[in-house]
Amino acid sequence: MKTILITGGAGFIGSHVVRLFVTKYPEYQIYNLDKLTYAGNLANLTDIENEPNYTFIKGDITDAGFLNDMFAEIPFDGVIHLAAESHVDRSITDPMSFVMTNVVGTVNLLNAAKTAWAGNFEGKRFYHVSTDEVYGSLHNPEDFFTEETPYDPQSPYSASKAASDHFVRAYGNTYKLPVVLSNCSNNYGPNHFPEKLIPLMIHNIQTSKPLPVYGKGENVRDWLYVVDHARAIDTVFHKGKLGDTYNIGGFNEWKNIDLVNLLCSIMDRKLGRPEGTSTQLITYVTDRAGHDLRYAIDAHKIMNELGWQPSLQFEQGLEKTVDWFLANQEWLDNVTSGAYQKYYEGMYANR
Ligand code: NAD
Ligand code: TYD
Repeated sequence: MKTILITGGAGFIGSHVVRLFVTKYPEYQIYNLDKLTYAGNLANLTDIENEPNYTFIKGDITDAGFLNDMFAEIPFDGVIHLAAESHVDRSITDPMSFVMTNVVGTVNLLNAAKTAWAGNFEGKRFYHVSTDEVYGSLHNPEDFFTEETPYDPQSPYSASKAASDHFVRAYGNTYKLPVVLSNCSNNYGPNHFPEKLIPLMIHNIQTSKPLPVYGKGENVRDWLYVVDHARAIDTVFHKGKLGDTYNIGGFNEWKNIDLVNLLCSIMDRKLGRPEGTSTQLITYVTDRAGHDLRYAIDAHKIMNELGWQPSLQFEQGLEKTVDWFLANQEWLDNVTSGAYQKYYEGMYANR
Protein backbone atom coordinates (compact mmCIF):
# COMPACT_ATOMS: atom_id res chain seq x y z
CA MET A 1 0.00 0.00 0.00
CA LYS A 2 1.17 3.50 -0.70
CA THR A 3 0.62 6.24 1.81
CA ILE A 4 0.69 9.59 0.08
CA LEU A 5 0.65 13.11 1.44
CA ILE A 6 -0.85 15.73 -0.87
CA THR A 7 -0.37 19.30 0.37
CA GLY A 8 -2.73 22.08 -0.70
CA GLY A 9 -5.40 19.52 -1.63
CA ALA A 10 -8.29 21.84 -0.77
CA GLY A 11 -7.14 24.39 -3.35
CA PHE A 12 -7.89 24.64 -7.05
CA ILE A 13 -5.40 22.19 -8.59
CA GLY A 14 -4.86 20.16 -5.41
CA SER A 15 -8.57 19.25 -5.20
CA HIS A 16 -8.43 17.72 -8.69
CA VAL A 17 -5.25 15.82 -7.80
CA VAL A 18 -6.79 14.50 -4.56
CA ARG A 19 -9.96 13.39 -6.39
CA LEU A 20 -7.96 11.63 -9.12
CA PHE A 21 -5.73 9.76 -6.66
CA VAL A 22 -8.55 8.80 -4.25
CA THR A 23 -10.74 7.42 -7.04
CA LYS A 24 -8.08 5.93 -9.32
CA TYR A 25 -6.00 4.27 -6.58
CA PRO A 26 -8.32 2.77 -3.94
CA GLU A 27 -5.30 0.79 -2.69
CA TYR A 28 -3.49 4.01 -1.68
CA GLN A 29 -4.10 5.98 1.51
CA ILE A 30 -4.37 9.64 0.55
CA TYR A 31 -3.79 12.34 3.16
CA ASN A 32 -4.70 15.91 2.24
CA LEU A 33 -2.84 18.49 4.34
CA ASP A 34 -4.17 22.01 3.97
CA LYS A 35 -4.22 25.17 6.09
CA LEU A 36 -7.52 26.27 4.52
CA THR A 37 -6.42 29.78 3.69
CA TYR A 38 -8.87 31.97 1.73
CA ALA A 39 -7.99 29.74 -1.28
CA GLY A 40 -8.60 26.39 0.42
CA ASN A 41 -12.16 25.11 0.33
CA LEU A 42 -13.28 21.65 1.46
CA ALA A 43 -16.46 22.10 -0.58
CA ASN A 44 -14.17 21.23 -3.53
CA LEU A 45 -14.00 17.66 -2.19
CA THR A 46 -17.46 16.82 -0.81
CA ASP A 47 -17.92 14.01 -3.37
CA ILE A 48 -14.92 12.05 -2.03
CA GLU A 49 -14.66 13.20 1.60
CA ASN A 50 -16.13 9.97 2.99
CA GLU A 51 -14.02 7.58 0.93
CA PRO A 52 -12.20 5.09 3.17
CA ASN A 53 -8.80 5.86 1.60
CA TYR A 54 -9.07 9.64 2.20
CA THR A 55 -8.12 11.69 5.26
CA PHE A 56 -8.08 15.46 5.66
CA ILE A 57 -5.58 17.08 8.03
CA LYS A 58 -5.80 20.78 8.77
CA GLY A 59 -2.29 22.17 9.21
CA ASP A 60 0.24 24.78 8.21
CA ILE A 61 3.46 23.89 6.38
CA THR A 62 5.22 26.87 7.97
CA ASP A 63 4.96 24.96 11.29
CA ALA A 64 8.00 22.65 11.27
CA GLY A 65 7.14 21.00 14.60
CA PHE A 66 3.68 20.07 13.36
CA LEU A 67 5.11 18.57 10.15
CA ASN A 68 7.75 16.55 12.00
CA ASP A 69 5.11 15.13 14.37
CA MET A 70 2.85 14.24 11.45
CA PHE A 71 5.68 12.48 9.57
CA ALA A 72 6.63 10.60 12.77
CA GLU A 73 3.03 9.40 13.13
CA ILE A 74 2.14 8.55 9.51
CA PRO A 75 4.53 6.49 7.36
CA PHE A 76 4.33 8.47 4.12
CA ASP A 77 5.88 6.87 1.04
CA GLY A 78 5.25 9.83 -1.21
CA VAL A 79 4.69 13.57 -1.03
CA ILE A 80 2.97 15.61 -3.74
CA HIS A 81 3.52 19.20 -2.70
CA LEU A 82 1.09 21.82 -4.03
CA ALA A 83 0.40 24.01 -0.98
CA ALA A 84 1.36 27.57 -1.84
CA GLU A 85 0.32 31.15 -2.04
CA SER A 86 -0.49 31.30 -5.74
CA HIS A 87 -1.72 34.72 -6.85
CA VAL A 88 0.78 37.15 -8.45
CA ASP A 89 -1.23 40.27 -7.51
CA ARG A 90 -1.27 39.26 -3.83
CA SER A 91 2.50 38.61 -3.98
CA ILE A 92 2.99 42.23 -5.05
CA THR A 93 1.14 43.59 -2.00
CA ASP A 94 2.29 40.94 0.53
CA PRO A 95 5.53 39.22 -0.59
CA MET A 96 6.41 37.91 2.88
CA SER A 97 3.50 35.48 3.08
CA PHE A 98 4.84 33.99 -0.20
CA VAL A 99 8.32 33.65 1.31
CA MET A 100 6.85 31.96 4.39
CA THR A 101 4.57 29.42 2.72
CA ASN A 102 6.33 28.84 -0.59
CA VAL A 103 9.96 28.91 0.55
CA VAL A 104 10.03 28.23 4.31
CA GLY A 105 7.06 25.84 4.08
CA THR A 106 8.72 23.84 1.29
CA VAL A 107 12.01 23.58 3.18
CA ASN A 108 10.10 22.48 6.31
CA LEU A 109 8.45 19.75 4.26
CA LEU A 110 11.78 18.65 2.75
CA ASN A 111 13.29 18.45 6.25
CA ALA A 112 10.34 16.48 7.62
CA ALA A 113 10.58 13.93 4.77
CA LYS A 114 14.37 13.72 5.05
CA THR A 115 14.20 13.09 8.80
CA ALA A 116 11.37 10.57 8.58
CA TRP A 117 12.91 8.63 5.69
CA ALA A 118 16.34 8.72 7.41
CA GLY A 119 18.35 7.74 4.35
CA ASN A 120 16.09 4.80 3.49
CA PHE A 121 14.73 6.16 0.22
CA GLU A 122 13.61 2.86 -1.33
CA GLY A 123 10.09 3.39 -2.76
CA LYS A 124 9.98 7.01 -1.59
CA ARG A 125 9.32 10.10 -3.69
CA PHE A 126 9.05 13.85 -3.04
CA TYR A 127 7.28 15.64 -5.90
CA HIS A 128 7.25 19.42 -6.07
CA VAL A 129 4.52 20.96 -8.25
CA SER A 130 5.73 24.26 -9.68
CA THR A 131 5.00 26.87 -12.30
CA ASP A 132 6.39 28.01 -15.65
CA GLU A 133 6.56 31.54 -14.19
CA VAL A 134 10.01 30.68 -12.72
CA TYR A 135 11.41 31.05 -16.26
CA GLY A 136 10.40 34.71 -16.47
CA SER A 137 8.93 36.37 -19.53
CA LEU A 138 9.33 35.50 -23.24
CA HIS A 139 9.87 38.36 -25.68
CA ASN A 140 10.81 36.57 -28.91
CA PRO A 141 7.69 34.97 -30.49
CA GLU A 142 9.78 31.95 -31.59
CA ASP A 143 10.80 31.05 -28.03
CA PHE A 144 9.29 28.49 -25.64
CA PHE A 145 10.19 27.50 -22.08
CA THR A 146 12.04 24.19 -22.09
CA GLU A 147 13.40 22.32 -19.06
CA GLU A 148 16.80 23.91 -19.88
CA THR A 149 15.56 27.52 -19.91
CA PRO A 150 17.47 29.43 -17.19
CA TYR A 151 15.41 30.63 -14.25
CA ASP A 152 14.60 34.35 -14.40
CA PRO A 153 11.63 34.99 -12.06
CA GLN A 154 10.18 38.49 -12.25
CA SER A 155 7.42 38.63 -9.59
CA PRO A 156 7.59 37.95 -5.85
CA TYR A 157 5.35 34.89 -6.52
CA SER A 158 7.63 33.44 -9.19
CA ALA A 159 10.74 34.31 -7.16
CA SER A 160 9.32 32.33 -4.21
CA LYS A 161 8.47 29.35 -6.45
CA ALA A 162 11.95 29.50 -8.05
CA ALA A 163 13.55 29.50 -4.59
CA SER A 164 11.47 26.48 -3.55
CA ASP A 165 12.40 24.62 -6.78
CA HIS A 166 16.09 25.30 -6.06
CA PHE A 167 15.73 23.95 -2.51
CA VAL A 168 14.02 20.79 -3.78
CA ARG A 169 16.86 20.18 -6.28
CA ALA A 170 19.46 21.02 -3.62
CA TYR A 171 17.98 18.38 -1.29
CA GLY A 172 18.07 15.88 -4.16
CA ASN A 173 21.71 16.70 -4.86
CA THR A 174 22.99 17.08 -1.30
CA TYR A 175 21.01 14.51 0.69
CA LYS A 176 19.98 12.25 -2.24
CA LEU A 177 16.33 12.86 -1.37
CA PRO A 178 14.35 11.24 -4.23
CA VAL A 179 12.85 14.35 -5.81
CA VAL A 180 10.98 15.08 -9.02
CA LEU A 181 9.55 18.41 -10.23
CA SER A 182 7.16 19.78 -12.80
CA ASN A 183 6.57 23.31 -14.08
CA CYS A 184 3.13 23.89 -15.55
CA SER A 185 1.50 26.70 -17.51
CA ASN A 186 -1.69 28.55 -16.41
CA ASN A 187 -4.53 26.25 -15.37
CA TYR A 188 -8.27 26.86 -15.67
CA GLY A 189 -11.39 24.86 -14.80
CA PRO A 190 -13.81 24.03 -11.97
CA ASN A 191 -12.90 25.20 -8.41
CA HIS A 192 -10.74 28.05 -9.72
CA PHE A 193 -10.75 30.90 -7.19
CA PRO A 194 -12.39 33.97 -8.77
CA GLU A 195 -9.41 36.30 -8.28
CA LYS A 196 -7.66 34.72 -11.30
CA LEU A 197 -8.40 35.92 -14.83
CA ILE A 198 -10.83 33.29 -16.19
CA PRO A 199 -13.14 32.77 -13.16
CA LEU A 200 -13.05 36.51 -12.36
CA MET A 201 -14.23 37.32 -15.89
CA ILE A 202 -16.94 34.62 -15.79
CA HIS A 203 -18.22 35.98 -12.47
CA ASN A 204 -18.13 39.61 -13.61
CA ILE A 205 -19.82 38.89 -16.94
CA GLN A 206 -22.56 37.01 -15.12
CA THR A 207 -23.13 39.88 -12.70
CA SER A 208 -22.61 42.60 -15.37
CA LYS A 209 -19.63 44.14 -13.58
CA PRO A 210 -16.63 45.77 -15.34
CA LEU A 211 -14.08 43.33 -16.82
CA PRO A 212 -10.68 44.68 -15.72
CA VAL A 213 -8.09 44.03 -18.44
CA TYR A 214 -4.57 44.96 -17.30
CA GLY A 215 -2.60 47.29 -19.59
CA LYS A 216 -3.52 46.78 -23.24
CA GLY A 217 -4.54 43.13 -22.85
CA GLU A 218 -1.58 42.11 -25.03
CA ASN A 219 -0.01 39.74 -22.50
CA VAL A 220 -0.03 36.08 -23.52
CA ARG A 221 -0.73 33.09 -21.29
CA ASP A 222 -0.64 29.38 -22.17
CA TRP A 223 -3.78 27.68 -20.77
CA LEU A 224 -4.28 24.06 -19.68
CA TYR A 225 -7.47 22.43 -18.34
CA VAL A 226 -6.89 21.61 -14.67
CA VAL A 227 -7.91 17.94 -14.99
CA ASP A 228 -5.21 17.52 -17.65
CA HIS A 229 -2.69 18.98 -15.20
CA ALA A 230 -3.88 16.51 -12.53
CA ARG A 231 -3.41 13.66 -15.07
CA ALA A 232 0.09 14.95 -15.79
CA ILE A 233 0.87 15.03 -12.06
CA ASP A 234 -0.26 11.39 -11.80
CA THR A 235 2.05 10.55 -14.73
CA VAL A 236 5.08 12.39 -13.35
CA PHE A 237 4.56 10.99 -9.84
CA HIS A 238 4.46 7.40 -11.11
CA LYS A 239 6.73 7.49 -14.17
CA GLY A 240 8.95 10.58 -13.88
CA LYS A 241 12.68 9.98 -13.58
CA LEU A 242 14.02 10.87 -10.14
CA GLY A 243 15.92 14.15 -10.18
CA ASP A 244 14.21 15.26 -13.38
CA THR A 245 11.93 18.18 -14.20
CA TYR A 246 8.98 18.05 -16.60
CA ASN A 247 7.35 21.06 -18.24
CA ILE A 248 3.57 20.67 -18.56
CA GLY A 249 1.42 22.57 -21.06
CA GLY A 250 -0.95 22.12 -23.96
CA PHE A 251 0.55 24.46 -26.62
CA ASN A 252 -2.38 26.80 -26.14
CA GLU A 253 -1.39 30.47 -26.12
CA TRP A 254 -3.95 33.25 -25.84
CA LYS A 255 -3.62 37.01 -25.70
CA ASN A 256 -5.62 38.14 -22.65
CA ILE A 257 -7.92 40.42 -24.64
CA ASP A 258 -8.73 37.66 -27.18
CA LEU A 259 -9.51 35.27 -24.35
CA VAL A 260 -11.78 37.80 -22.61
CA ASN A 261 -13.61 38.43 -25.90
CA LEU A 262 -14.08 34.67 -26.40
CA LEU A 263 -15.45 34.33 -22.85
CA CYS A 264 -17.83 37.25 -23.48
CA SER A 265 -19.20 35.54 -26.56
CA ILE A 266 -19.59 32.11 -24.84
CA MET A 267 -21.32 33.75 -21.88
CA ASP A 268 -23.66 35.88 -24.03
CA ARG A 269 -24.77 32.69 -25.81
CA LYS A 270 -25.23 30.72 -22.56
CA LEU A 271 -27.06 33.55 -20.79
CA GLY A 272 -29.28 34.27 -23.79
CA ARG A 273 -27.94 37.82 -24.14
CA PRO A 274 -27.49 39.47 -27.57
CA GLU A 275 -23.96 38.89 -28.98
CA GLY A 276 -21.75 41.88 -28.05
CA THR A 277 -23.49 42.62 -24.73
CA SER A 278 -20.63 41.57 -22.47
CA THR A 279 -17.73 43.01 -24.47
CA GLN A 280 -19.11 46.43 -23.51
CA LEU A 281 -18.07 45.62 -19.93
CA ILE A 282 -14.37 45.41 -20.90
CA THR A 283 -12.44 48.09 -18.98
CA TYR A 284 -8.73 48.68 -19.51
CA VAL A 285 -7.08 49.29 -16.14
CA THR A 286 -3.58 50.18 -14.92
CA ASP A 287 -1.15 47.41 -15.76
CA ARG A 288 0.18 44.98 -13.14
CA ALA A 289 3.62 46.06 -11.88
CA GLY A 290 6.34 44.07 -13.66
CA HIS A 291 3.73 42.24 -15.76
CA ASP A 292 5.33 39.28 -17.61
CA LEU A 293 4.62 39.61 -21.34
CA ARG A 294 4.35 36.01 -22.49
CA TYR A 295 4.51 32.46 -21.17
CA ALA A 296 4.65 29.44 -23.49
CA ILE A 297 5.60 25.90 -22.55
CA ASP A 298 7.41 23.38 -24.72
CA ALA A 299 5.83 20.15 -23.41
CA HIS A 300 7.63 17.71 -25.71
CA LYS A 301 9.59 16.03 -22.90
CA ILE A 302 6.56 14.86 -20.89
CA MET A 303 4.73 13.93 -24.11
CA ASN A 304 7.61 11.97 -25.66
CA GLU A 305 9.19 10.40 -22.56
CA LEU A 306 6.13 9.77 -20.36
CA GLY A 307 3.36 9.57 -22.97
CA TRP A 308 1.14 12.27 -21.44
CA GLN A 309 -1.17 14.27 -23.75
CA PRO A 310 -3.80 16.89 -22.90
CA SER A 311 -7.29 15.44 -23.40
CA LEU A 312 -9.31 18.58 -24.12
CA GLN A 313 -9.26 21.28 -26.77
CA PHE A 314 -9.33 24.77 -25.23
CA GLU A 315 -12.78 25.70 -26.57
CA GLN A 316 -14.23 22.46 -25.09
CA GLY A 317 -12.49 23.09 -21.76
CA LEU A 318 -13.70 26.67 -21.62
CA GLU A 319 -17.31 25.61 -22.34
CA LYS A 320 -17.08 22.99 -19.57
CA THR A 321 -15.65 25.58 -17.20
CA VAL A 322 -18.36 28.15 -17.93
CA ASP A 323 -21.03 25.43 -17.51
CA TRP A 324 -19.50 24.43 -14.17
CA PHE A 325 -19.52 27.99 -12.82
CA LEU A 326 -23.09 28.58 -14.00
CA ALA A 327 -24.22 25.33 -12.37
CA ASN A 328 -22.37 25.99 -9.11
CA GLN A 329 -23.68 29.38 -8.14
CA GLU A 330 -23.67 28.47 -4.46
CA TRP A 331 -19.95 27.59 -4.57
CA LEU A 332 -19.23 30.96 -6.17
CA ASP A 333 -21.43 32.86 -3.71
CA ASN A 334 -19.80 31.14 -0.73
CA VAL A 335 -16.30 31.73 -2.02
CA THR A 336 -16.91 35.39 -2.80
CA SER A 337 -18.56 36.00 0.58
CA GLY A 338 -15.99 33.99 2.56
CA ALA A 339 -18.87 32.08 4.18
CA TYR A 340 -17.26 28.67 3.66
CA GLN A 341 -14.23 29.74 5.68
CA LYS A 342 -16.33 30.65 8.70
CA TYR A 343 -18.20 27.38 8.37
CA TYR A 344 -15.11 25.18 8.17
CA GLU A 345 -13.16 27.19 10.77
CA GLY A 346 -15.85 26.19 13.27
CA MET A 347 -15.95 22.61 12.03
CA TYR A 348 -12.19 22.00 12.23
CA ALA A 349 -11.29 24.36 15.06
CA ASN A 350 -10.33 21.61 17.50
CA ARG A 351 -8.94 18.86 15.29
P1 NAD B 1 -4.57 27.67 -4.72
O1 NAD B 1 -4.20 29.01 -4.20
O2 NAD B 1 -5.90 27.47 -5.35
O3 NAD B 1 -4.46 26.58 -3.55
C1 NAD B 1 -3.39 26.56 -2.64
C2 NAD B 1 -3.79 25.67 -1.48
O4 NAD B 1 -2.68 25.67 -0.55
C3 NAD B 1 -5.02 26.18 -0.72
O5 NAD B 1 -5.89 25.10 -0.47
C4 NAD B 1 -4.44 26.73 0.58
O6 NAD B 1 -5.34 26.62 1.68
C5 NAD B 1 -3.20 25.85 0.76
N1 NAD B 1 -2.18 26.53 1.58
C6 NAD B 1 -1.71 27.79 1.42
N2 NAD B 1 -0.82 28.07 2.38
C7 NAD B 1 -0.67 26.95 3.12
C8 NAD B 1 0.12 26.62 4.24
N3 NAD B 1 0.97 27.51 4.80
N4 NAD B 1 0.03 25.36 4.76
C9 NAD B 1 -0.82 24.46 4.21
N5 NAD B 1 -1.62 24.74 3.17
C10 NAD B 1 -1.54 25.97 2.62
O7 NAD B 1 -3.39 27.28 -5.71
P2 NAD B 1 -3.43 26.43 -7.07
O8 NAD B 1 -3.70 27.35 -8.18
O9 NAD B 1 -4.26 25.23 -6.87
O10 NAD B 1 -1.89 26.01 -7.18
C11 NAD B 1 -1.42 24.82 -6.53
C12 NAD B 1 0.07 24.67 -6.81
O11 NAD B 1 0.28 24.58 -8.22
C13 NAD B 1 0.90 25.85 -6.33
O12 NAD B 1 2.11 25.34 -5.81
C14 NAD B 1 1.15 26.68 -7.58
O13 NAD B 1 2.36 27.37 -7.49
C15 NAD B 1 1.20 25.58 -8.63
N6 NAD B 1 0.79 26.00 -9.99
C16 NAD B 1 -0.39 26.68 -10.18
C17 NAD B 1 -0.76 27.02 -11.48
C18 NAD B 1 -2.07 27.72 -11.73
O14 NAD B 1 -2.34 28.10 -12.88
N7 NAD B 1 -2.94 27.92 -10.77
C19 NAD B 1 0.06 26.67 -12.56
C20 NAD B 1 1.24 25.97 -12.31
C21 NAD B 1 1.60 25.63 -11.03
P1 TYD C 1 -3.76 35.41 -13.53
O1 TYD C 1 -4.98 34.60 -13.74
O2 TYD C 1 -3.62 36.24 -12.30
O3 TYD C 1 -2.52 34.41 -13.69
P2 TYD C 1 -0.92 34.74 -13.81
O4 TYD C 1 -0.69 36.15 -13.45
O5 TYD C 1 -0.33 33.81 -12.82
O6 TYD C 1 -0.56 34.42 -15.22
O7 TYD C 1 -3.62 36.40 -14.78
C1 TYD C 1 -3.59 35.90 -16.10
C2 TYD C 1 -3.34 37.07 -17.03
O8 TYD C 1 -4.49 37.94 -16.98
C3 TYD C 1 -2.17 37.93 -16.63
O9 TYD C 1 -1.53 38.41 -17.81
C4 TYD C 1 -2.80 39.09 -15.87
C5 TYD C 1 -4.14 39.24 -16.55
N1 TYD C 1 -5.25 39.74 -15.72
C6 TYD C 1 -6.06 40.79 -16.16
O10 TYD C 1 -5.83 41.37 -17.23
N2 TYD C 1 -7.10 41.18 -15.36
C7 TYD C 1 -7.36 40.58 -14.16
O11 TYD C 1 -8.33 41.01 -13.47
C8 TYD C 1 -6.54 39.51 -13.74
C9 TYD C 1 -6.80 38.82 -12.42
C10 TYD C 1 -5.49 39.11 -14.55
